[in-house]
Amino acid sequence: MRLTEIPLQFDDSQELPSEVATLLSDADALLQRFWDDWYKQPIEQYVACDFPYVWHALKATIAMQDSNQRSFIEWGCGFGVVTAMAWLAGLPAVGIEAEPFLVEEADKLLKRHAIKAEIWHGNFLPRGAETIADCQSDYASLFHRVPPAYLSHDCELSDFGIVFAYPWPGEDHFLREVFRRYAAENALLLMFRGPYQIELFRKVGGR
Ligand SMILES: C[S@@+](CC[C@H](N)C(=O)[O-])C[C@H]1O[C@@H](n2cnc3c(N)ncnc32)[C@H](O)[C@@H]1O
Repeated sequence: MRLTEIPLQFDDSQELPSEVATLLSDADALLQRFWDDWYKQPIEQYVACDFPYVWHALKATIAMQDSNQRSFIEWGCGFGVVTAMAWLAGLPAVGIEAEPFLVEEADKLLKRHAIKAEIWHGNFLPRGAETIADCQSDYASLFHRVPPAYLSHDCELSDFGIVFAYPWPGEDHFLREVFRRYAAENALLLMFRGPYQIELFRKVGGR
């Protein structure tokens, strides 16, 4: 199995649906409070992606996925904003996050907006995935000593058809390889890489 990159085309100047705009204005206020009080709750690994941009990319991604493979999972969901947007876009959606404070805040955000996505505390790396990294690696995603979230929810990564990740610089190769090995055939990986940079990959058969 291999990954093939799929060109993504979308118009990010389009207006956001009102429920997404409302969610994002709440998220902006939440993030502002988090940064203002960062010294009280210093979580070094949290950085937010560009939510409106990801909304448009996600809509374009959904249009490219088969209807029977549209369950969504976010690797390291932080405050759960992208997971919430995936649910608003009509997907069954799960976010996995290792930091208990962020899990709590994400749960509260979802409740405030009556969003029925799920936030799971745990590791987004499937069991054994850390062995793909070479032993010198200091990838941010390897720092969390919490068990994989999949097992306690009786599922596997291969049950999801759309994966979203915002990796730390330098670990994108590692996360792509984890996806290549553990995701279902035909699954899509949407990766935010930085301002106006987003990539989409599909896992396909063959070499
Ligand atoms: C760069 S932030 C991205 C947050 C969110 N996805 C977004 O795009 O706004 C990465 C998040 O992943 C979480 N994280 C990193 N490695 C993880 C792991 N192995 N398992 C679960 N969460 C992880 C961090 O705690 C952090 O909240």
